[in-house]
Amino acid sequence: MPKATFLGHSCVTLTDGKYNLIIDPFLTGNPQATGKADDIKADFVLITHGHGDHVGDGIAIAKRNKATVIANFELANLCGAEGAEVHPMHIGGGHDFDFGRVKLTIAHHGGGYGPDASRYTGPPVGFLITLSGKTVYHPGDTGLFYDMKLIGEMNKIDLAFLPIGDNFTMDINDAVKAVEFLRPKRVVPFHFNTWPLIEASPEDFAAKVKGTKVVILKPGESVEF
Ligand code: NI
Ligand code: MN
Repeated sequence: MPKATFLGHSCVTLTDGKYNLIIDPFLTGNPQATGKADDIKADFVLITHGHGDHVGDGIAIAKRNKATVIANFELANLCGAEGAEVHPMHIGGGHDFDFGRVKLTIAHHGGGYGPDASRYTGPPVGFLITLSGKTVYHPGDTGLFYDMKLIGEMNKIDLAFLPIGDNFTMDINDAVKAVEFLRPKRVVPFHFNTWPLIEASPEDFAAKVKGTKVVILKPGESVEF
């Protein structure tokens, strides 16, 4: 049974026991992070967009592990120029890797790397990741969008992560609507309480969701799916 571990903010690791994936590996400087970037073992590093709280330690982790960065074309090329192995993709495209399949979805948000977010990293994306026959949806940072209904219709999602922190992403009420659209088997709220600006109550979210199991993970906690 594959396992997902929440490392704080939007950072999630996935493993099937053989392959190790890390998504949005923001550990250094992340007040919620329980792990250190130097301790991460990864075969693949998936990055949703160019903002610092998502690229995080991704390039360093990829280089140290000789892992492959999976990201949109523009961000993958930036990581490649910084010395990482990369597999560029783009929205709507999927690819079968040794561990399973990754498909890129739209996300409504920004992109841009560096201290002033000025280096172009293309549009933000979400990931549909299939591992051991189970599908995980990591939307990155996004507002609510109606195409989540289509994503839910066309994919049997076993585990979805959704931002609830408001200000930069969906708030709780929009995330509840996203659950209605996506109809995942389980949902984990994330991208909240990292800083005062994105404070939110995962219990309030859980109380409002109907028909899907809400799993509240503290940084460092895991769920099998
Ligand atoms: Ni962002
Ligand atoms: Mn973010």
